[in-house]
Amino acid sequence: MPKLRWLSHSCFWLEAGGKKILIDPFLSGNPLARENPEMLRPDYILLTHGHGDHLGDGLAIAKSSGATIVAPNELAVYCNRQGATVHPMHIGGGWDFDFGRVKLTIAHHGSGGGDDGTLYLGNPCGFLVFSEGKTIYHAGDTGVFYDMKLIGEMHPVDVALLPIGDNFTMGPADAVKAVELLAPKTVIPMHYDTFGLIKQDPHAFAAEARKKGAKVVVLEVGGEYEF
Ligand code: NI
Ligand code: MN
Repeated sequence: MPKLRWLSHSCFWLEAGGKKILIDPFLSGNPLARENPEMLRPDYILLTHGHGDHLGDGLAIAKSSGATIVAPNELAVYCNRQGATVHPMHIGGGWDFDFGRVKLTIAHHGSGGGDDGTLYLGNPCGFLVFSEGKTIYHAGDTGVFYDMKLIGEMHPVDVALLPIGDNFTMGPADAVKAVELLAPKTVIPMHYDTFGLIKQDPHAFAAEARKKGAKVVVLEVGGEYEF
């Protein structure tokens, strides 16, 4: 059974298909994170976009662990130039890895990097991960979009990881609409409470999202969900 551990913000540690997969590893400078990035030894690092709160410690962990970074092409090329092993992909594309399949979805957001966040690093993405007969959707940073319905129709989602923070991404009300469109079995909210601009009550979101027929799991930082 795949296992997810929430390391706070949009960062998850996924164990699936016999591999360890780290998604959006924002740990240094993250007031909620408890994990020491130097202790993490993933096999893969999935990056949804180049913003500091997603790329995070990705380069350092990739270099210390030898993990392969999986990211949209421009971000992958950037990481490769910084010395990381990368597997470039792009929106709509899938690839069969040794733990399962990864497919990139759209995300409506930015992806600037560099010192002031204006270095062009391509488009942001979401990830579909198919492993052990289960489908996980990490939406990345995005507003709600109607094609979430298409994602759910083509790839019935077991666990959807959705931002609810508002301000930079969809907020709770729009995330409830996302749950309606995706129709996932289970939803785990993310990208909230890390800093003041994205303070939210995940339990209020959960109460509304449950009305759409989904199971909602609100994880504590460090909390795990097996499915
Ligand atoms: Ni972002
Ligand atoms: Mn973000």
